[in-house]
Amino acid sequence: MKPESVNQEICRRCGACVEECGRGGIALEDGQIVFNGPRCMACGHCVAICPVGALTDPEGLPETIDRSILPSTEGMEELLRSRRSHRHYEKRPVAMEHVERLLAAARFAPSGKNTQSFEFTLLQTPDRRHAFTDACFERMIRARKKLKNVWWRFFVGLLFDPRVRDVGVRRSLDRALRRREAGMDPLFFAAPLIVLVHAPKVGATPKDDCCYALYHMVLMAETLGLGSCINGNAEVLIRHFPDLKKEVNIPDEHRVYACATFGYPKRAFVRHVHRNSVCARVL
Ligand SMILES: Cc1cc2nc3c(=O)[nH]c(=O)nc-3n(C[C@H](O)[C@H](O)[C@H](O)COP(=O)(O)O)c2cc1C
Ligand code: SF4
Ligand code: SF4
Repeated sequence: MKPESVNQEICRRCGACVEECGRGGIALEDGQIVFNGPRCMACGHCVAICPVGALTDPEGLPETIDRSILPSTEGMEELLRSRRSHRHYEKRPVAMEHVERLLAAARFAPSGKNTQSFEFTLLQTPDRRHAFTDACFERMIRARKKLKNVWWRFFVGLLFDPRVRDVGVRRSLDRALRRREAGMDPLFFAAPLIVLVHAPKVGATPKDDCCYALYHMVLMAETLGLGSCINGNAEVLIRHFPDLKKEVNIPDEHRVYACATFGYPKRAFVRHVHRNSVCARVL
C-alpha cells in the first residue's frame, strides 16, 4: 500500500524510509517527509521500515513482525525437504478455514512491480470439479485426434509448440485417456480442491507472480496437514484450449499460469527423498 500520512511529531528524520524506497516515492524535503505518489509502487517498505511507526497507509499502521514465531532454519529446511506431491486424497472437502489460510498465504507472495495481479479460481463443489474435469478430458480426446495427424504435428510443432512432435507426449496422453476410460482421474486425482491461478496476459511478470503465489499456498498447505500437487498438465491443456476458461468463468483476457490440487492426503510420507546433488557455480 502507498504511504498516506506521516506523524511529523514522532518522525526522527532518520531517512530510513527514503533510503529504503530508492524510487523517489518518499523524500525528506526541508526536514519534512513528503510523498510522490506517481513514483510509488505501493510496496509498503517505507511504512514497514520506519523504526517509530511514523508512517501509515490507508489501512493504518501494520502489526509489528513477531520474529519469535518464525520457523528456525532447521524447521524451514525440514518443511522444504518434506513437502511432497500428493496424488491420493481423502474424499472429505478442504475445511473453509484451511482454504482461507491458503489464500492468506498467497496474498503475501512477491510479484513483479508489486502488481499482485494474480487471481484465484477454486473448484471445490463436486459439481464444479466434475464438470471441469469432464471438460478437460473432452479436450484431451480432441488433442489425441489432432496429434494423430502427421501434418498437424509438423506445422503446429514448427510454428507454435515443438512438444507436439514428441512421441512421449502422445504416449502419456494415450495412457491418461486409457486410465480415464477405466474410471480414474489421472489429471486431478479426484482431489477435493482444484486451484487455478490466473492473471491478465498483459503485465509485468504474470506467470512468475502466479507461480510464486501458488507455491506460497503449497508450502502453507503442508503446515495445515494438507497435501498438494502442482499441475502443469492442466496448465498446458488450458493454454491449448483456452475455451476451458469459460467453463469456470475466468475472464478471456486472463491466462491460467498455474494450477494445483489440494486435499487431505490418504497416506503420510514417512521419509525424505534423495535428490541430485545441486549443480551450482560460485564465481
Ligand atoms: C511446474 C510443475 C508442473 C508439474 N506438473 C505435474 C502434473 O501435471 N502432474 C503431476 O502428477 N505432477 C506434476 N508435478 C509434480 C512433479 O512431478 C513433482 O514435483 C516431482 O516429481 C518431484 O516430486 P515432489 O514434488 O514430491 O518432490 C509438477 C511439478 C512442477 C514443479
Ligand atoms: S510504498 Fe514503496 S515505493 Fe511507495 S514510497 Fe514507500 S517504499 Fe517507496
Ligand atoms: S523512517 Fe520514519 S522516522 Fe525515519 S525519516 Fe522516515 S518517517 Fe521519519
